[in-house]
Amino acid sequence: MKLLHIDSGIQGERSASRALSAAVVDRLRSDRLDLAVVRRDLVADPIDHLLPGDLAGGEADGIASEFLDADIVVIGTGLYNFTIPTQLKAWVDRILIPGRTFLYGEAGPEGLAGGKRVIVTLARGGIYSPGSPAAPLEHAETYLRGVLAFIGITDPEFVIAEGLALGEDARAAAVSAAMQRANDVAGAVAA
Ligand SMILES: Cc1cc2nc3c(=O)[nH]c(=O)nc-3n(C[C@H](O)[C@H](O)[C@H](O)COP(=O)(O)O)c2cc1C
Repeated sequence: MKLLHIDSGIQGERSASRALSAAVVDRLRSDRLDLAVVRRDLVADPIDHLLPGDLAGGEADGIASEFLDADIVVIGTGLYNFTIPTQLKAWVDRILIPGRTFLYGEAGPEGLAGGKRVIVTLARGGIYSPGSPAAPLEHAETYLRGVLAFIGITDPEFVIAEGLALGEDARAAAVSAAMQRANDVAGAVAA
């Protein structure tokens, strides 16, 4: 069984999304000894912005193949300026490929990348839960759910730690609760 572990948080040792994605992968590794993990750190090893010459073949093929080959994909991301980090957007640009991960037919778009489990660990400084005043500004979870559904992954799991900028106590409580959820989600996916 293959797992692709992606991180895009830029805050190094203090990155909550990295700590959470690592916790998910650690739990999956301990439950599934047959797991082969491929690592893609989009900050240590960034992907270039998409340019006109990249639209067919080249680097995109390798990145898309790596994604398509994975049975489980774990994505760590922060909410940066109300959306995903630019590093992660560059990766999305390499996996949304007509004919490989989606196609348009007479019935509209069809996703071709279904059948894999995707777990997203998302860290946010503020509060964006449904019903909160800032909820309409949340374009990371909503964007990733949309992108994943478009390519056929309609049941991603989200592990969210939010309110991390609201003081150290709030941060510690939110990260602790998210760590518990990370463990539960990974345990359920591994079962
Ligand atoms: C460049 C940058 C932009 C940010 N923009 C937002 C934002 O728009 N809304 C928010 O609630 N928090 C914002 N934050 C706070 C992050 O969401 C928070 O630090 C979170 O922990 C990021 O994930 P990470 O710890 O994995 O980097 C921002 C942080 C950085 C570094």
